[in-house]
Amino acid sequence: MNVNGKPYRTIWLHPKDNSIIQVIDQRYLPHQLIIEDLATFEQVCTAIKEMHVRGAGVIGAAAAYGMYLASLEAKKNQVKDIQTFLHLAGKKLKATRPTAVNLAWAVNRQLEKIVTLNDNINLIIENSAKIAQTIAEEDVSFCQNIGKHGVKLLEDISQKKHGEVVNILTHCNAGWLGCVDNGTATSPIYEAYRRGIKVHVWVDETRPRNQGSTLTAWELGQEGVPHTIIPDNAGGHLMQHGLVDIVITGSDRTTYTGDVANKIGTYLKAVAAKDNNIPFYVALTYSAFDWEISDGVKQIPIEERDGREVKYMKGLHDGEIKEVLVAPENSPVANYGFDVTPARLITGLITERGICQPSAEGVFSLYPEKRF
Ligand code: MRU
Repeated sequence: MNVNGKPYRTIWLHPKDNSIIQVIDQRYLPHQLIIEDLATFEQVCTAIKEMHVRGAGVIGAAAAYGMYLASLEAKKNQVKDIQTFLHLAGKKLKATRPTAVNLAWAVNRQLEKIVTLNDNINLIIENSAKIAQTIAEEDVSFCQNIGKHGVKLLEDISQKKHGEVVNILTHCNAGWLGCVDNGTATSPIYEAYRRGIKVHVWVDETRPRNQGSTLTAWELGQEGVPHTIIPDNAGGHLMQHGLVDIVITGSDRTTYTGDVANKIGTYLKAVAAKDNNIPFYVALTYSAFDWEISDGVKQIPIEERDGREVKYMKGLHDGEIKEVLVAPENSPVANYGFDVTPARLITGLITERGICQPSAEGVFSLYPEKRF
């Protein structure tokens, strides 16, 4: 998508040095566009853990590239037991952030190939580069397809409203910054906007890290999509007053039964949407499905993050990005990063293969190869 009219992705291979990965460092947006070079496996782990890159799609792609850098390091350091080295690297990557299943999925996809190549390090490097590239490209095209399927929902609402503005509420950033390009939840919105459908997006601020106000608002603005930032607690009020036509969020992990883990606060939006009879959709690619578990509330691991994220707020002051304390310094903090929205509160899942019911039957109708 565009930044000042120039197309960008969130992650790519350095054009002059294919041992370096480049990413948009999201910690500085919307104030500064900083491209970070990730030249080592450790740097990739830090970038994921400290959220230089964040959002399920790009976390998956970064993890895949991380495995590629680990294989380059295995060669450079003449590692003897390559398989153990790379499996340990995979374990370390998986531990950086526990909720987004795309991360473990990408690492496993790399390891499944790596184990078949024994200690042939050149072949391992060649294949892990290819797999990382494929994962990134797939994310781009799958998100595009989500747009093509999801736009029908917005078209329908627009028709019912006789061409009046369609108001969409979204939470966190499930936009192109959270993926490699296009976004999941935002893809139908961008597609609708391109087709001339009048849209307006209510952007939840998304405390504590403000991915909504800093990232979603910025990327929608760069594309010219009308939007308004709202405090996290405003959604219910807007819904009661007929100001929200549809909610679309992303997902970090969705059980095959349709329970969705997404940024903390998503569940409350789903409850409010249900109470107000407003359709609540979740957009995701197949890499965000967890095919092993059926009870999201009980089984999805929820990341707990540093309390500093709640007590301090970051912003621009006198041209410099600064952090300020906004709570008593010694008060304890609980900072759960995600919550789980049970399938019963979700109207449908928008995937690269189409839209389905949030149920095992619905999900397997789109992914029959996963049926057991
Ligand atoms: O903690 P974050 O910013 O990585 O959380 C991101 C989200 O919750 C997104 O909604 C989700 O990853 C979907 S983006 C494809």
